[in-house]
Amino acid sequence: MSRIVYVNGEYLPEEEAKVSVFDRGFLMADGVYEVSSVLEGKLTDFPGHMERLARSLAELKMETPLSDEELLEIHRELIARNDLKEGVVYLQITRGAADRDFVWPKDAKPSVVLFTQVKELEEARQAKTGIRVVSVPDLRWGRRDIKTVQLLYPSFAKMEAKAQGADDAWLVEDGHVTEGTSNNAYIVTADGTIVTRNLSNSILHGITRASVLQLAREAQMKVEERPFTIEEAQQASEAFITAASTFVCPVVEIDGAKIGEGTPGPVAKRLREIYIANARAEAI
Ligand code: PDD
Repeated sequence: MSRIVYVNGEYLPEEEAKVSVFDRGFLMADGVYEVSSVLEGKLTDFPGHMERLARSLAELKMETPLSDEELLEIHRELIARNDLKEGVVYLQITRGAADRDFVWPKDAKPSVVLFTQVKELEEARQAKTGIRVVSVPDLRWGRRDIKTVQLLYPSFAKMEAKAQGADDAWLVEDGHVTEGTSNNAYIVTADGTIVTRNLSNSILHGITRASVLQLAREAQMKVEERPFTIEEAQQASEAFITAASTFVCPVVEIDGAKIGEGTPGPVAKRLREIYIANARAEAI
């Protein structure tokens, strides 16, 4: 069945939804995006996603074409029109269509596109089995804190992981893990401390990361925000990732080495439960 998607003010069947060939998102990856998850037809962590979107737009000196209230309304309308119970809403804003030029156009109108994707989140298979990751050099640009649509290298790294028989890649720069291809990376040390890389331009400031760390601290779990190496991760008692599209998902193998028992660990399991319970309670 055809989805209804949102394109520049219109709700259209996906076959009829079009953007210009001159759109700078298409020509130059000149755009930003957000992915918000939906549980029981409601949006989770939505204010965080809107805050990060505003920041990404501001960093690229793009105007914000719609208010948070208008964007919430569009998200809700798409969820309703597509009868989405569980999955994600993808939102993309580009600088708009203009003659190809490295100089930003003065009067281009931003393009706004949103669509829904059905995805099993709560009962996702990988949350039960855990995933296997391999390390890949982090060759992305230096402003990973901006959620841009230039995803060629993360996609390349994920394909490299698949070619090696793994599920995903952890990106490594200067000997330390930055993050996953589309998620933040964590380990749990022998004394139960949750370790994840500190915020900087080197990683995306995950909205799920912010929620999970807050919930962990509220549950009196110890959290350390610092870089870690692949070797430290391989010796850790647990590892996991977070993202809107996976929530908390255990990592059971890194570069062929089993983590702990090689099965999802108790800290990741508990954080996943706490996160989902909270996301459900606060969904809008
Ligand atoms: N990716 N790091 C990177 C590089 C990401 O692309 C993502 C999310 C995250 C996690 O951020 P959040 O918790 O806000 O989803 C971290 C989305 C899900 C995607 O590209 O599909």
